[in-house]
Amino acid sequence: MSSETSDLVVRLATVEDVSRLEQLVELSIRQLAAGYYDDRQIESSLQHLYGVDTQLVRDGTYYVVECQRQVVGCGGWSRRLTPFGGDNVGAIRDAGLRTPGQDPAVIRAFFVHPDWTRRGLGRKILETCEKAAQQAGYDRFELTATLMGRALYAACGYREIRPVDITLRDGQVLPHVLMEKP
Ligand SMILES: CC(C)(COP(=O)(O)OP(=O)(O)OC[C@H]1O[C@@H](n2cnc3c(N)ncnc32)[C@H](O)[C@@H]1OP(=O)(O)O)[C@@H](O)C(=O)NCCC(=O)NCCS
Repeated sequence: MSSETSDLVVRLATVEDVSRLEQLVELSIRQLAAGYYDDRQIESSLQHLYGVDTQLVRDGTYYVVECQRQVVGCGGWSRRLTPFGGDNVGAIRDAGLRTPGQDPAVIRAFFVHPDWTRRGLGRKILETCEKAAQQAGYDRFELTATLMGRALYAACGYREIRPVDITLRDGQVLPHVLMEKP
């Protein structure tokens, strides 16, 4: 895969992207979560937690980063109440809306290809999301970070509110961190 960051394009995701994005999520988690979560947590999280939230794709708030038509990163923001997770996450999904100017928008589901980490993709998607959410009237942001994701958000001005243990449907527990940017 090319390594030229000058070739990167950020665009809105479409429903046609979803299967490729699911593959990217799996690759990103399998390689980048090792050392932060154990094998059982990783397998369980791919079944019950991480994945594409197609509501965001339909809302026009989910982005892909491409390099020469290869999808190398994705991430989005949301005006919905669902705090985290893909379509697979189950009961916590709530399509209710957050009120601009009152509630924070949520930063959601960032995944970068393992060959493309530490080249500014995460930061680039985050800046794109914050700008779009601000244009939609939101002036605060929050997110539930993975243990491997928290350094990105800290580097981009987010502060940690509290640890959050996410219990999956099979009983696996994955530590995360609730973060916010005023
Ligand atoms: C978290 C993730 C999205 C970061 O993406 P990325 O493109 O590598 O991040 P960036 O290159 O934009 O990093 C920007 C800054 O964040 C910080 N940062 C990012 N990843 C870091 C890491 N693994 N360790 C330490 N600092 C890190 C650094 O300050 C970095 O700047 P620098 O490279 O100049 O030092 C990526 O590692 C990933 O996909 N992880 C697996 C999925 C995941 O956990 N997603 C988060 C969901 S909340």
